[in-house]
Amino acid sequence: MKKEAVTRYPINPLSKARWSPRAFAQTLPGTDTLLSLFEAARWAPSAMNEQPWRFIIGIKPAPGWHLIFDTLMAPNQIWAKEAPVLMVVCSKNHFGNDGTLNLTAAYDTGQAVAHLSIEAMNQSLYVHQMGGFFPEKAITLLEIPEGFQPLVVIAIGYYGDPESLPEPYKQREFAPRTRKEPGEIVYDSKFGQPFIQLP
Ligand SMILES: Cc1cc2nc3c(=O)[nH]c(=O)nc-3n(C[C@H](O)[C@H](O)[C@H](O)COP(=O)(O)O)c2cc1C
Repeated sequence: MKKEAVTRYPINPLSKARWSPRAFAQTLPGTDTLLSLFEAARWAPSAMNEQPWRFIIGIKPAPGWHLIFDTLMAPNQIWAKEAPVLMVVCSKNHFGNDGTLNLTAAYDTGQAVAHLSIEAMNQSLYVHQMGGFFPEKAITLLEIPEGFQPLVVIAIGYYGDPESLPEPYKQREFAPRTRKEPGEIVYDSKFGQPFIQLP
């Protein structure tokens, strides 16, 4: 199933095609394919080129997959149980050179995930990010050291059968995708002054 963005202005085909499904096929992505995703993340920009992102991957049926699955909140477990790949994204809180707080660590890590998501689409893979997980559980189960913060869990896989989803997830899978209007998020000269007013 495709849920392409209905855009007001033309955008590149991968960004248009990307969305966050809940129906995943059981097919395992190949290691090289997954490495292409991490390659895209690796080449994302970051403050001072710190590259604060770290990824902990679990591929079914490895024990790592089950550990990551156990960190998810129940509503996400309902559908993420089908995802063949799960991973935890962490960011390093301090700069490596002088130990000062890196205020953009999470921002930079989000950028890396954005690059990864677009490369996933390029490989016909889908990414679904989840803030609904227990970070403390991830720290314990995955032995994440001090100074690193788990930010999200991500489900990755090829698209599956939306009919197999239980409600309310099935209904959400078919629901149209919505966005704020450009004028609500892009301002001209002053905060709140829409850059563009659409008719
Ligand atoms: C940081 C972050 C946390 C999210 N947490 C969840 C989550 O816990 N469960 C879920 O089903 N979707 C989660 N999502 C997915 C969003 O709901 C989804 O990206 C949004 O509705 C836009 O839909 P689209 O990605 O299909 O365009 C999360 C997305 C992001 C970026």
